[in-house]
Amino acid sequence: MNQIQIHDKSFQIFIHEDRILTRVNELAKAISKEFAQEQPLFIAVLNGSFIFAADLMKHMDFPCEIQFVKVSSYHGTQSSGKVQQVLGLSQPIKNRKVIIIEDIIDSGLTIDFLRKDLLLQEPSSISICSLLVKPDALKVKLDVQYTGFEVDNHFLVGYGLDYDGLGRNLRHLYQAID
Ligand code: IMP
Ligand code: MG
Repeated sequence: MNQIQIHDKSFQIFIHEDRILTRVNELAKAISKEFAQEQPLFIAVLNGSFIFAADLMKHMDFPCEIQFVKVSSYHGTQSSGKVQQVLGLSQPIKNRKVIIIEDIIDSGLTIDFLRKDLLLQEPSSISICSLLVKPDALKVKLDVQYTGFEVDNHFLVGYGLDYDGLGRNLRHLYQAID
């Protein structure tokens, strides 16, 4: 299935599942190297990062924990700019090394909001790991320590990412055909 249709849009394969999984493995190795002695707490951002977070966690072979938060700002294919935390942490993060797991950083507003919010709880550090980053779309300065792929400013679905609710189950990443 090279070309697919979701709602009103056509999409074509952009990054094949094999390439995604190879890169996820590399990211996991890099994170393990840095954090194996630290027992970090992963904080995965729902909904989009659920598949990435699961694959990433499978490659961690040292003691680590994961929690989920839900932050919402995106409607359709345009970021609304307003960010809201709609599901919070159930565990304190004071003095913990935290690694945020995100599917895609677009304007950067979501992660910037979440980072600042988590900082109030005084973790010992916060690192960011995002499968995808759109550097041309960034509206805030953001240090992303672990990036899977830097991509152009096109709308993507698959591997957890959705277009108005659909497409998260697709194994590859697909790009909208304009
Ligand atoms: P930001 O706040 O603009 O960085 O948006 C981040 C959130 O918007 C991500 O967590 C995604 O859920 C969503 N998002 C951004 N770009 C895309 C895309 O190309 N496809 C699907 N969702 C996206
Ligand atoms: Mg997301």
